[in-house]
Amino acid sequence: MLTGAGLGLWYQKIQEDKEHRALEGAESGAAAVGAAAVGGPFTLTECVTGKPFTEADLKGRWNLLYFGFTACPDVCPEELEKIAEVTDGVQKLMASKRPVATDPFVRPVFITVDPRRDTRERVAEYVAEFHPAMIGLTGTLEQVRQAAHAYRVYFSQTSEDNDGDYLVDHSIISYLVDPNGEFVAFYGKNVTAEEMIKSIVEHSFKGRTTSAQ
Ligand code: NI
Repeated sequence: MLTGAGLGLWYQKIQEDKEHRALEGAESGAAAVGAAAVGGPFTLTECVTGKPFTEADLKGRWNLLYFGFTACPDVCPEELEKIAEVTDGVQKLMASKRPVATDPFVRPVFITVDPRRDTRERVAEYVAEFHPAMIGLTGTLEQVRQAAHAYRVYFSQTSEDNDGDYLVDHSIISYLVDPNGEFVAFYGKNVTAEEMIKSIVEHSFKGRTTSAQ
């Protein structure tokens, strides 16, 4: 669990630091890489509505993207629980910017790398288990490959066992995408929820500072 009081004090402190100088180099665990290197065009399907979802649909808000599959035995559930915790943690701090908890400041987005089994229905049910605001995306194998390629995500299906069952090896990374649809940071498995919350809030302040100049 996060220490709510600790994060509250931290938030107060960075708000008081109008220049946000204290934020420089404080992104523990978050690695910024060349923005142009990650992200790009893709077309998938939003699992609840069945509507196309492209890179343009990421614009207008902060997003946290994660690629995985619903049959993943432990890693994906753990990561998605962390992402749900991050969504709520950021929301607590940033509620004044986007007050509705079911439409929070940062939107969690799950993208399947197992479209063969991960139907719209299956993904929609799966993401709802983790967070009411989490959306799920699927598509054809080719569409999923395109999206994974854009975000430099690796995935590979293992051979099937006698029951036709298989796993999918995949990168375990969450991607922060800003309201311009631009990739800004990624977080590996070892980055904690609290570190992610701080990084996302810091990036949102930087964005505001930049756009104000
Ligand atoms: Ni997984």
